[in-house]
Amino acid sequence: MNNRIMSGMRPTGKLHIGHYLGVIDNWVKLQNKYESYFFVADWHALTTKYNKTENLRQDSIDVVTDWLACGLDPDKSTIYVQSLVPETAELHIYLSMITPQHWVEKDPTLKDIVKIIKSGDGGSEEITYGLLGYPVLMSADILLFNASFVPVGIDQVAHVEITRDIARRFNSIYGADVFNEPQPLLNECSYICGVDGNKMGKSYNNDIKISDTEESTAKRIMQAITDRSRIRRDDLGHPDQCEVAFKYWQIFGSADDIEKTKHACETGTIGCADCKRCLAAKVNERFKEIREKRKYYEEHPEIVRDIIYSGSEKARKTAQETLKEVRKAVQIY
Ligand code: TRP
Repeated sequence: MNNRIMSGMRPTGKLHIGHYLGVIDNWVKLQNKYESYFFVADWHALTTKYNKTENLRQDSIDVVTDWLACGLDPDKSTIYVQSLVPETAELHIYLSMITPQHWVEKDPTLKDIVKIIKSGDGGSEEITYGLLGYPVLMSADILLFNASFVPVGIDQVAHVEITRDIARRFNSIYGADVFNEPQPLLNECSYICGVDGNKMGKSYNNDIKISDTEESTAKRIMQAITDRSRIRRDDLGHPDQCEVAFKYWQIFGSADDIEKTKHACETGTIGCADCKRCLAAKVNERFKEIREKRKYYEEHPEIVRDIIYSGSEKARKTAQETLKEVRKAVQIY
């Protein structure tokens, strides 16, 4: 086992504060403890959106810009784009040859994606060979660096499991000790819902982007659902029944803020609108520095580009070492 972690995201474009609280903030901490690789899975985007590639490059840049703004540091972490490390594709070939068909067919995440595609809401109409290989490609990402840990959300754990199975099978078939079995490292995250109380997501139009302005953040927060039983400003409120606003306070406020808000709500001394105005200021304060940093990178896209290209070069070096072992084990030239 080494001290290496790796993780990635599909290029979904500008990220929201749920990504920050749930994933990126955790990566930013982990990069101080582990040799870290973080990448944009642009080939994975093709598994469902092979026919909608016009924004793919910009979406990858936007994702990396958000990461850098949030504190991923190219001096500590290797930041790269999957398609710039073609060694991934070669490893994917070897792994695809040894992965039993029923392993990919039972992938629960894939089953969900297939359901979405069949309902007509996905990017494409067709379930392709590439989509079926989603977990194998993900295994290639991880095993290419022989990462010991993969920091992911609970929804990706099944994919790390299949990666472990594939690693074991490879070692056993080729009588080699090339891969170690990576373990998921569950994100210690605060879950944040969208302003309407549902899962935060850009397609639900209920998200706050890392890149949003203070004004649009405030506007969004003013839409947040509160205690539905409170009609008039001086009605006594129930923070525990407040569907969104008080939950946000619990994430963004200090212990003192939370206590004061709770008291003011319960005694009817603050109305929901005023409460949300204060909350918006809190949220904006939390993202002030991140947004300033983001603006800097947005104005210097050549810096982001350099980080991506030099990170990808660095990643390739490590990848080539693994591939050398793999080729030897498989007895390929
Ligand atoms: N499947 C992951 C997601 O949708 C993205 C991903 C691709 C990934 N390859 C990976 C995550 C390797 C961790 C490690 O979020």
